[in-house]
Amino acid sequence: MKRILVTHDGSKASDKALKKAVEIGAKFESSITVLSVIPDLYLTELSDADRQRLLQIMTEETQNSMEKIRASLTGKSVDAKIILRQGDPAEKILETAKKMKVDLIVTGSHGRHGAKKFLLGSISSRIVDYAPCPVLVVK
Ligand SMILES: Nc1ncnc2c1ncn2[C@@H]1O[C@H](COP(=O)(O)OP(=O)(O)OP(=O)(O)O)[C@@H](O)[C@H]1O
Ligand SMILES: [Mg+2]
Repeated sequence: MKRILVTHDGSKASDKALKKAVEIGAKFESSITVLSVIPDLYLTELSDADRQRLLQIMTEETQNSMEKIRASLTGKSVDAKIILRQGDPAEKILETAKKMKVDLIVTGSHGRHGAKKFLLGSISSRIVDYAPCPVLVVK
């Protein structure tokens, strides 16, 4: 278990996923990569200027929450790094998992937006369906 990819969207479930990944990573001496994807906006009624502004706000918010994660990981006995991508979250997560040849993806069961009545969120469900490696879904 050399490389673990954790997907993080700022939700409680993804915090739990990160905690689990750190636990596993410490046991197996794995390197941990925390990935957060800033989603593309599909709001056609937005002007280009508003779209840019909104994207900027989302980017800043994601950077802030990743900074908090970075701070919470310093001093822990794991080798962790944080990356940000922009685009379709599931696509970017799967692409990163393949490129990095990770051994495990750890994801939350639900995220920030979903309806809890579904078993899994749409992103975690796509990860489980298409991942090139084992997936741990944390709830
Ligand atoms: N933009 C993202 N970047 C990184 N990881 C993400 C992102 N969105 C979701 N995830 C990961 O997937 C997990 C499940 O979130 P998901 O988005 O599938 O559920 P949801 O938000 O409850 O529902 P939905 O988005 O389908 O309405 C999160 O806990 C997180 O680990
Ligand atoms: Mg979501």
